[in-house]
Amino acid sequence: MSKLNGKVALITGAGAGIGAGIAKTYAKYGAKLCLVDASPIVEETAAKIHDAFGVEAIGVVADVSKADQLLDAAAKAKEKFGRIDVACCNAGVCRLSPFEEHSAEDLDLTINVNIKGAWNTCKAVIPYMLEQGGGAIVIASSVTGDIVVDPGEASYAMSKAALVGLTKALAVEYAARNIRVNCTQLGYARTPMTEKMALESCPEDPESVFTEMAKAIPMRRLANPTEVGELTAFLGSDEASYLTGSQVVIDGGSTLPETVSMGV
Ligand SMILES: NC(=O)c1ccc[n+]([C@@H]2O[C@H](COP(=O)([O-])OP(=O)(O)OC[C@H]3O[C@@H](n4cnc5c(N)ncnc54)[C@H](O)[C@@H]3O)[C@@H](O)[C@H]2O)c1
Repeated sequence: MSKLNGKVALITGAGAGIGAGIAKTYAKYGAKLCLVDASPIVEETAAKIHDAFGVEAIGVVADVSKADQLLDAAAKAKEKFGRIDVACCNAGVCRLSPFEEHSAEDLDLTINVNIKGAWNTCKAVIPYMLEQGGGAIVIASSVTGDIVVDPGEASYAMSKAALVGLTKALAVEYAARNIRVNCTQLGYARTPMTEKMALESCPEDPESVFTEMAKAIPMRRLANPTEVGELTAFLGSDEASYLTGSQVVIDGGSTLPETVSMGV
């Protein structure tokens, strides 16, 4: 029996990038899926995953920054599958710019999607989890903010560090009621988000951003979205039954080097 067999997972930001990688991995392990994304592409992603893995999957268009839309999405998952065992709060945005030029709009967007989006997702699923006697939540934080940061990432870093706080707060509050809450802290993966960031960082040669990034990572490569999916699947499964409030780094060793010159 596969580790997520029969479990129902609601995954936000599942239309593309890491979220689609998480969805594929959950499907591989037998989960039924409610895929949520602000983009209608999520319906296509759900159909492709259904065809490729033979699991039930629905796509729901919803903006995580809107609490009522998340309540509707969770209600659709409950109506279709009868329960929600796992929620992956993955939807996120990153707006790069020097701090003194960072607009109020970009700050609001980052807070609304990254922080309130996870908050709204947890609010929407926890009542079902309480009703059914438990569940698991996996929040996509990042190494950015809590551990490392690059210039221009102030609002993103702040939002991702805040998610570590949310993870711990909810883990403590719901531990005795059998809801586990953990977060992942990814280094870098190549996705539509990081391709846009690379283009903004170096419009004349965005590919060089990835090449240089890979050189600085001890494993000499970025993550694949399905590798993040594997960690997220473990944290959502019963195999992680004694893990709660944990922040798990998945970065190919990128946060390890102390210098770029010593011992090389
Ligand atoms: N890619 C990386 O290297 C990296 C590193 C660390 C953490 N993360 C985190 O992983 C998550 C996914 O990142 P990604 O690189 O796949 O991003 P992405 O931009 O490539 O994909 C994000 C998906 O979320 C959706 N989305 C955006 N705003 C939304 C909203 N308001 N409501 C619902 N859906 C929305 C988009 O439509 C898209 O399908 C984010 O939380 C990001 O911060 C990514």
